[in-house]
Amino acid sequence: MTGKPETTTHFGFETVPEGEKAGRVQGVFSSVASKYDIMNDVMSVGIHRVWKDAMMDWLAPRPGQRLLDVAGGTGDISFRFLKRAGHGHSTVLDITESMLVEGRKRAEAERMSDSLDWVVGDAMALPFDNNTFDVYTISFGIRNVTRPQEALNEAYRVLKPGGRLMVLEFSQLPNPMMQAAYDAYSFNVIPRMGQLIAGDRDSYQYLVESIRNFPDQDTFLGMLRTAGFGNAKYRNLSLGIAALHSGWKL
Ligand SMILES: C[S@@+](CC[C@H](N)C(=O)[O-])C[C@H]1O[C@@H](n2cnc3c(N)ncnc32)[C@H](O)[C@@H]1O
Repeated sequence: MTGKPETTTHFGFETVPEGEKAGRVQGVFSSVASKYDIMNDVMSVGIHRVWKDAMMDWLAPRPGQRLLDVAGGTGDISFRFLKRAGHGHSTVLDITESMLVEGRKRAEAERMSDSLDWVVGDAMALPFDNNTFDVYTISFGIRNVTRPQEALNEAYRVLKPGGRLMVLEFSQLPNPMMQAAYDAYSFNVIPRMGQLIAGDRDSYQYLVESIRNFPDQDTFLGMLRTAGFGNAKYRNLSLGIAALHSGWKL
């Protein structure tokens, strides 16, 4: 007998041992990295850009701010943040190195490399001191993290007092009929598009399943408060297909 049973978690609709999830997630994003940016545009019909701009509108970056962009992937949020701030610095942290490699290429092409650092790491164990950053963002990343509450606790730890967290994530539609229509689109169209464009059905099947499993807006708001964030609020985007959550380290 080996004692305690192993703790399990979701990987899409599969139940897997907790210790396996990060490796499986890395497998998905290593496989999609080179096509990630184009697939985002195709599958969301460009709407992810509108949502990311809405995130910047609410965040209102200011000159000189230091951002930590967790699960930052190819750097979409960091580029937007730095352009809006005028000048500042962003550290992009991600568990999948090949996503960061794509981001670095973009930074070089846009001559922004001096304002960016790229760090391989896990959102649940950030390799930074307490009270380091002015702003923490995580966009379409937290639903992939094995224990999201731990990632939020880490966000709180590394933010300076007065610092701000903003999370952009897929969410739940409050209207059941709309949710059913959206599910029909997601489960039927997205994995097929993944197969057609990226030759990878499984990664996009994981994507839609992970979206369905993520907590609704109010449950996630409670998790921000549990981590210690004050003045925590959310805004729905596109009727709740996605949501922005904001909180402050007061
Ligand atoms: C859907 S992409 C989002 C990329 C980017 N933030 C954006 O909005 O376009 C999700 C990213 O989360 C990263 N990720 C997943 N689990 C992670 C973890 N535990 N710690 C850090 N990054 C993680 C993946 O490697 C992937 O690059």
